Amino acid sequence: MNRVLSVTSECAPLIKTGGLADVAGALPAALKPLGWEMITLLPGYPQVMSALDKTTDVMVEHDLFGGTARVLKAKAKGLQLFVLDAPHLYDRDGGPYLDTDGKDYGDNPQRFAALGWIAAKIATDGAGDWMPDVLHAHDWQAGLAPVYLRAFGGAAWVGSVITVHNIAFHGLAPAHLRKELRLPADGLTPEGFEFWGQISTLKAGLNWSDRITTVSPTYARELMTPEFGMGLDGVIRSRAGVLSGILNGIDTEVWDPDTDPDVTNFATPAKKRAATAALREEMGLEDNGGPLAVVVSRLTEQKGLDLLIEALPGFLSRDGQLALLGSGDGGLEEAFQQLADTHSGVAVRIGYDEALSHRMMAGADAVLVPSRFEPCGLTQMYALRYGAIPVVARTGGLADTVIDANAAALRSGAATGIQFYPVTAEALSGALHQLVDLFEDTKIWKKMQKTAMRQDVSWAGSAAEYAALYESIGTAE
Ligand code: ADP
Ligand code: GLC
Repeated sequence: MNRVLSVTSECAPLIKTGGLADVAGALPAALKPLGWEMITLLPGYPQVMSALDKTTDVMVEHDLFGGTARVLKAKAKGLQLFVLDAPHLYDRDGGPYLDTDGKDYGDNPQRFAALGWIAAKIATDGAGDWMPDVLHAHDWQAGLAPVYLRAFGGAAWVGSVITVHNIAFHGLAPAHLRKELRLPADGLTPEGFEFWGQISTLKAGLNWSDRITTVSPTYARELMTPEFGMGLDGVIRSRAGVLSGILNGIDTEVWDPDTDPDVTNFATPAKKRAATAALREEMGLEDNGGPLAVVVSRLTEQKGLDLLIEALPGFLSRDGQLALLGSGDGGLEEAFQQLADTHSGVAVRIGYDEALSHRMMAGADAVLVPSRFEPCGLTQMYALRYGAIPVVARTGGLADTVIDANAAALRSGAATGIQFYPVTAEALSGALHQLVDLFEDTKIWKKMQKTAMRQDVSWAGSAAEYAALYESIGTAE
């Protein structure tokens, strides 16, 4: 077996704030049949430590940014892990990045430098009897790993890849931390890891890795533009030769409408009706004959849900209904709550609820994803699999996974959803009107549902692309 070390701050089902966790959690099983053994290095957050089975100590680090740390080899929920047990950095109340008041931990630069440092150590010296061929870093949290890997000399025999899941997060740290973070002095330049006078750990990863991937082909192209590159488009353009877009998949066992333990099961669109009725009942919505649209999302600027607030009245006036599950921005939470209080066709649950997210997909006629940018997006793929029609902004992975119901696609039977562009309230409103029109044409609607449910949203194809990429850079036997 060839070996890859996946370096990530989130991994489902152990610790999750977004899609990164789903991807990191699903990749090992998808790669295994292709001859790649992936072990995941995770910070020892309390949620991770308490889930471990059978642990073995494989490394001790006496001075890891302010304290002693151990690396444990362990299994948890079917995953093979290295866990960085560093209580001074990770044993805290709160989330992976934010304290209980929702503020960034002041020492996030040290917390994630530690993750990168240990990743590079494992990739240079091995851990126990395990030594990777490839180091795969995810996002800014792992961005320093390739820098340390080069400093330790491990880069001579271990290839490195960084995957950009979201370029909005740069991993910024004040420049005066350069020495404390054990970064090379000559790296603090615009060609290195400096970003407008600060250190950017993402930029470090982009410049020090052998290869760069992102999570859809369209986002790979978008990243090279000032509109989407968020200040790092120049770096991405300068490394265009090593950049590729590999679409995410979803875990088709966890997301299987026919066996999902959280939902009224169904294998065909006709049988889905019971799940829709159950969701309406749970959310307190009367069946008025119109389509039930669902949103499951972080409530942030990225997701474009402010546009939905503007576009909603037209949809409700045509008997459309909305059920939303989400949390995040306080203003958006309040605005949606207010809509629910004043409109009988709107139901809102503020919070994070994995099981409810499954019932929402199962019950939805449509799933709305009006993102301003979306590197890949997973909920539109859950929607396809659960026979809900995705209504998406034409951007990033949304553009790559949904086949727009234009005249040609409808005629050929290829359509699986609705794409709109530009990402404005007007265009979204137009898409919602089109949704109602399609819903009212029972024959077309059923055909779209069937086509949607047949799409391959599994990891199979994309895992093969990762395996080919690893083979091209690792010292594969
Ligand atoms: P992002 O990572 O940008 O948030 P993705 O679509 O890639 O977007 O992944 C989001 C993941 O988080 C999905 O698995 C989605 O179901 C889940 N999710 C988001 N908000 C909630 C919520 N409030 N409750 C349960 N799951 C949620
Ligand atoms: C990020 C992106 C999302 C993507 C996920 C997993 O959170 O916002 O589009 O699906 O990472 O790659």
